[in-house]
Amino acid sequence: MLGDFSFCAPTRLHFGPESLDKLADELKQYGKNVLLIYGGGSVKRTGLYDEIVAILKKAGKNVAEDPGVMPNPTTEKLKEGIGRARTHRTDLLLAVGGGSVVDYAKAVSASVNEKADPWEKFYVGGEEPSGETLPVGVVLTMAGTGSEMNTGSVITNRETQQKIGHVFQNPCMAPRFAILNPKYTMTLSKKQMTAGIFDIFSHIAEQYFSGDDDNTSDYIAEGLFRSLIYSSRTAVTNPEDYEARSNIMWTATWALNSLLMKGKKGDWKVHMLGQAVGAVTNATHGLTLAAVSPAYYRYIEEEALPKLVRFAKNVWDIEGEGKSDREIADAGLAAMEDWMREIGVHVTLTELGATEEQIPAIVRATILFPSGYKDLTEEDAAAILRASL
Ligand code: NZQ
Ligand code: ZN
Repeated sequence: MLGDFSFCAPTRLHFGPESLDKLADELKQYGKNVLLIYGGGSVKRTGLYDEIVAILKKAGKNVAEDPGVMPNPTTEKLKEGIGRARTHRTDLLLAVGGGSVVDYAKAVSASVNEKADPWEKFYVGGEEPSGETLPVGVVLTMAGTGSEMNTGSVITNRETQQKIGHVFQNPCMAPRFAILNPKYTMTLSKKQMTAGIFDIFSHIAEQYFSGDDDNTSDYIAEGLFRSLIYSSRTAVTNPEDYEARSNIMWTATWALNSLLMKGKKGDWKVHMLGQAVGAVTNATHGLTLAAVSPAYYRYIEEEALPKLVRFAKNVWDIEGEGKSDREIADAGLAAMEDWMREIGVHVTLTELGATEEQIPAIVRATILFPSGYKDLTEEDAAAILRASL
C-alpha cells in the first residue's frame, strides 16, 4: 500500500428484504420537514412510494415532494430542486430511486445554502460547499453507481453538452443512511439491470487498472470482480434469484465507496469517455461504459500489460502456461467481451445513437487528465471512440 490516506465511511447501511423497517428509526434523528425526491414514476408503479409515504406520515413528518428526477439529472432540474428544498425549509432530503436520484439529492444538499451557481462552483470548479449542507437519506431501487455510500454526484448540463461528476471531499456529503433491499431491484428492466452490472464492473476496473505496487485493494477488487461476474450470470438467467441480486447490490456499494481507491491513483478514462458520450447522446450510463471499454483496454494493452495479465489469470481464470504475456492479456480481454455478450451489454456507440459526426463533440466533452497506465491525447480519445462505433 503506497501513499497516505484516510478512510471514513459515515453511511449507515441497512441491507435485506426487511430493511425498510429501519426507516422509522432513522427518521427520528432529523427534523420534521422531509423533501421526498424520486424519479419518473417507477416508485409509484412498484408500490414503494405508498409504503414510504405511510412511514413518513406515521413518523409525523411534514412531507413535500420533488418528483421527476430524470436519468442523467440536469442543471435545470437541480435549480427546481434547490427552490423546493428552500421553500420547504427542509431538514432531510429522502432520495428514493437509483443513482440519478441520489446524485441529484446530494447536489441539492450542497447547493441549498449556496449563493454561487452550483454547476460552476461544484461541477466545473470542483469546489466544496461553503454553506451548511442538508443530510441525505436513501432508499435505493437500482444497483450500480455506489452513490448510496459515496460522496460523488454527477450532473448534466444540456446547454453546454457536458456531464461532470464531482466527488465531494467532505465525508458528510455521503448519505447518512441507505436502505438496500435487493428485492426492489427486481422490477428493473433487463437493460437497466445489466447496465448497472457493467457500471459496477467498470468502477472496479477503473481503480484496479492503476499502480504497480502490491496492494490489498487489488485483491479485494479481484474478489468483487469474481462475485459480480458469477452473480450476473445467474441474474441474467433468473432475474428473480435473490441470492444473485443481493450479491450484485452489495458489490455495487463496495465497488465505489472509496475502499478500493485506498493506496491507488485510479484510471477513470472509461468513465470520462462514457460520461462524454452520455453528455452528447443522453444514453444510459452503464451502456456508455460498455460501448467504449473493449476498445479502450485494447488501446492501452501494451502499457497495461502486466496488469492485464494479472486480470486475465485472477479474474477470468486464463491459464498462462505456454502463452506469451500478450496472448494471456488478449485471452483475458476476449473473456471479458464474451461475458459482456452473454449478459447483453456488448454494445456499440452506434447502437447508443452516437454518430461519426458527433465524435469531435464527444472528444470536446471528455475530461482528459493523466491517470492509469497511459495518458490519452484528444487524438487517442477520438481513435477509441471511432473503434467503438
Ligand atoms: O425514474 P424512474 O421512473 O424511477 O426509472 C428509473 C430510470 O429510468 C429506473 N429505475 C430505477 N429503479 C427502478 C427502476 N425501474 C424499475 N424498477 C426499479 N426498481 O431506472 C432508470 C435509470 O435510473 P438511474 O437512477 O438513472 O440509474 P443509475 O443508478 O445507473 O444512475 C445513473 C446516474 O448516476 C451517475 C451516472 O452518471 C448517471 O447520471 N453516476 C453516479 C456515480 C456516483 N455518484 O458515484 C458514479 C457513476 O459512475 C455514475 O457516473
Ligand atoms: Zn459509473
